[in-house]
Amino acid sequence: MQFSKKHNTITKENINEMVITFYTKILKEDGEVAKVFRDKLGEDINSEEWQEHIKILTNFWAMIALQDPEYQGNPMRAHFDLPLSREKFGSWLVMFFEVIDTMYERDLGMIFKSRAENIASNFMRNLQL
Ligand code: HEM
Repeated sequence: MQFSKKHNTITKENINEMVITFYTKILKEDGEVAKVFRDKLGEDINSEEWQEHIKILTNFWAMIALQDPEYQGNPMRAHFDLPLSREKFGSWLVMFFEVIDTMYERDLGMIFKSRAENIASNFMRNLQL
Protein backbone atom coordinates (compact mmCIF):
# COMPACT_ATOMS: atom_id res chain seq x y z
CA MET A 1 0.00 0.00 0.00
CA GLN A 2 1.28 3.50 -0.75
CA PHE A 3 0.79 6.41 1.63
CA SER A 4 0.86 9.78 -0.07
CA LYS A 5 2.08 11.50 3.08
CA LYS A 6 3.89 9.94 6.01
CA HIS A 7 2.31 10.33 9.43
CA ASN A 8 3.90 12.98 11.63
CA THR A 9 1.90 12.01 14.70
CA ILE A 10 1.19 8.60 16.18
CA THR A 11 -2.46 7.82 16.88
CA LYS A 12 -4.22 4.60 17.73
CA GLU A 13 -5.93 4.82 14.32
CA ASN A 14 -2.68 4.97 12.38
CA ILE A 15 -1.21 2.20 14.57
CA ASN A 16 -4.18 0.03 13.57
CA GLU A 17 -3.50 0.91 9.92
CA MET A 18 0.19 0.02 10.39
CA VAL A 19 -0.64 -3.33 12.03
CA ILE A 20 -3.06 -4.28 9.22
CA THR A 21 -0.52 -3.23 6.57
CA PHE A 22 2.21 -5.27 8.26
CA TYR A 23 0.26 -8.53 8.48
CA THR A 24 -1.20 -8.09 4.99
CA LYS A 25 2.38 -7.79 3.75
CA ILE A 26 3.51 -10.88 5.69
CA LEU A 27 0.69 -13.01 4.30
CA LYS A 28 1.50 -11.80 0.79
CA GLU A 29 5.23 -12.56 1.06
CA ASP A 30 4.42 -16.25 1.48
CA GLY A 31 7.79 -17.10 3.09
CA GLU A 32 8.78 -18.86 6.31
CA VAL A 33 7.36 -16.14 8.57
CA ALA A 34 4.03 -16.22 6.72
CA LYS A 35 3.91 -19.99 7.24
CA VAL A 36 4.11 -19.61 11.04
CA PHE A 37 1.23 -17.12 10.97
CA ARG A 38 -0.85 -19.16 8.52
CA ASP A 39 -0.46 -22.33 10.58
CA LYS A 40 -1.49 -20.51 13.76
CA LEU A 41 -4.12 -18.01 12.56
CA GLY A 42 -5.13 -19.17 9.07
CA GLU A 43 -4.75 -17.29 5.80
CA ASP A 44 -7.83 -15.09 5.86
CA ILE A 45 -6.98 -11.77 7.44
CA ASN A 46 -10.71 -11.09 7.84
CA SER A 47 -11.25 -14.17 10.03
CA GLU A 48 -12.10 -13.85 13.73
CA GLU A 49 -8.63 -15.16 14.70
CA TRP A 50 -6.84 -12.55 12.61
CA GLN A 51 -9.14 -9.72 13.66
CA GLU A 52 -8.44 -10.60 17.30
CA HIS A 53 -4.68 -10.70 16.62
CA ILE A 54 -4.84 -7.31 14.89
CA LYS A 55 -6.75 -5.83 17.83
CA ILE A 56 -4.22 -7.24 20.34
CA LEU A 57 -1.24 -5.97 18.31
CA THR A 58 -2.84 -2.53 17.91
CA ASN A 59 -3.19 -2.35 21.70
CA PHE A 60 0.36 -3.66 22.13
CA TRP A 61 1.95 -0.97 19.92
CA ALA A 62 -0.34 1.70 21.40
CA MET A 63 0.97 0.71 24.85
CA ILE A 64 4.52 1.19 23.60
CA ALA A 65 4.06 4.39 21.60
CA LEU A 66 1.17 6.08 23.44
CA GLN A 67 1.20 4.50 26.91
CA ASP A 68 -2.30 3.23 26.08
CA PRO A 69 -3.45 0.99 28.99
CA GLU A 70 -5.50 -1.58 27.05
CA TYR A 71 -2.86 -4.22 26.32
CA GLN A 72 -2.98 -6.87 29.06
CA GLY A 73 -1.10 -9.78 27.53
CA ASN A 74 2.23 -11.50 27.86
CA PRO A 75 4.06 -11.10 24.53
CA MET A 76 6.76 -13.65 25.32
CA ARG A 77 4.39 -16.47 26.21
CA ALA A 78 2.67 -16.36 22.80
CA HIS A 79 5.98 -17.31 21.15
CA PHE A 80 7.20 -20.29 23.18
CA ASP A 81 5.39 -22.95 21.16
CA LEU A 82 6.03 -21.48 17.72
CA PRO A 83 8.69 -22.81 15.31
CA LEU A 84 10.91 -19.71 15.35
CA SER A 85 14.52 -19.13 14.31
CA ARG A 86 16.98 -16.25 14.08
CA GLU A 87 16.35 -16.13 10.32
CA LYS A 88 12.61 -15.73 10.83
CA PHE A 89 13.14 -12.93 13.35
CA GLY A 90 15.46 -11.29 10.81
CA SER A 91 12.80 -11.42 8.07
CA TRP A 92 10.11 -10.26 10.49
CA LEU A 93 12.22 -7.18 11.34
CA VAL A 94 13.00 -6.39 7.67
CA MET A 95 9.29 -6.44 6.79
CA PHE A 96 8.33 -4.47 9.88
CA PHE A 97 10.95 -1.79 9.16
CA GLU A 98 9.73 -1.49 5.55
CA VAL A 99 6.17 -0.87 6.67
CA ILE A 100 7.24 1.64 9.34
CA ASP A 101 9.46 3.52 6.85
CA THR A 102 6.57 3.81 4.37
CA MET A 103 4.11 5.03 6.97
CA TYR A 104 5.88 7.23 9.53
CA GLU A 105 8.23 10.19 9.53
CA ARG A 106 11.75 9.14 10.42
CA ASP A 107 11.82 10.17 14.10
CA LEU A 108 8.48 8.57 14.87
CA GLY A 109 9.44 5.45 12.96
CA MET A 110 12.49 5.08 15.19
CA ILE A 111 10.24 4.57 18.21
CA PHE A 112 8.68 1.48 16.63
CA LYS A 113 11.85 0.18 15.02
CA SER A 114 14.11 0.42 18.06
CA ARG A 115 11.52 -1.22 20.31
CA ALA A 116 10.88 -4.00 17.78
CA GLU A 117 14.59 -4.71 17.57
CA ASN A 118 14.95 -4.83 21.35
CA ILE A 119 11.97 -7.08 21.82
CA ALA A 120 13.12 -9.41 19.04
CA SER A 121 16.53 -9.70 20.77
CA ASN A 122 14.86 -10.47 24.10
CA PHE A 123 12.63 -13.08 22.47
CA MET A 124 15.61 -14.75 20.78
CA ARG A 125 17.55 -14.81 24.02
CA ASN A 126 14.62 -16.26 25.98
CA LEU A 127 13.97 -18.82 23.24
CA GLN A 128 17.69 -19.66 23.21
CA LEU A 129 17.97 -19.00 19.48
C1 HEM B 1 9.53 -14.51 13.46
C2 HEM B 1 8.99 -13.61 14.24
C3 HEM B 1 7.60 -13.74 14.81
C4 HEM B 1 6.59 -14.61 14.54
C5 HEM B 1 6.56 -15.72 13.48
C6 HEM B 1 5.49 -14.29 15.42
C7 HEM B 1 4.28 -14.96 15.44
C8 HEM B 1 3.25 -14.71 16.31
C9 HEM B 1 2.01 -15.46 16.37
C10 HEM B 1 1.63 -16.63 15.45
C11 HEM B 1 1.27 -14.93 17.36
C12 HEM B 1 -0.14 -15.37 17.79
C13 HEM B 1 -0.05 -16.36 18.90
C14 HEM B 1 -1.40 -16.83 19.39
O1 HEM B 1 -2.45 -16.26 19.02
O2 HEM B 1 -1.42 -17.75 20.19
C15 HEM B 1 2.02 -13.83 17.93
C16 HEM B 1 1.59 -13.02 18.97
C17 HEM B 1 2.21 -11.85 19.33
N1 HEM B 1 3.41 -11.37 18.85
FE1 HEM B 1 4.64 -12.32 17.56
N2 HEM B 1 5.83 -13.24 16.21
C18 HEM B 1 7.11 -12.85 15.88
C19 HEM B 1 7.83 -11.80 16.41
C20 HEM B 1 7.31 -10.83 17.22
C21 HEM B 1 7.98 -9.62 17.63
C22 HEM B 1 9.42 -9.24 17.23
C23 HEM B 1 7.09 -8.94 18.41
C24 HEM B 1 7.25 -7.61 19.11
C25 HEM B 1 8.03 -6.64 18.66
C26 HEM B 1 5.88 -9.72 18.51
C27 HEM B 1 4.77 -9.38 19.25
C28 HEM B 1 3.68 -10.18 19.46
C29 HEM B 1 2.59 -9.87 20.39
C30 HEM B 1 2.48 -8.63 21.28
C31 HEM B 1 1.69 -10.92 20.32
C32 HEM B 1 0.36 -11.08 21.11
C33 HEM B 1 0.64 -11.69 22.48
C34 HEM B 1 -0.65 -11.74 23.30
O3 HEM B 1 -1.48 -12.64 23.03
O4 HEM B 1 -0.83 -10.88 24.17
N3 HEM B 1 6.04 -10.86 17.78
N4 HEM B 1 3.23 -13.73 17.27
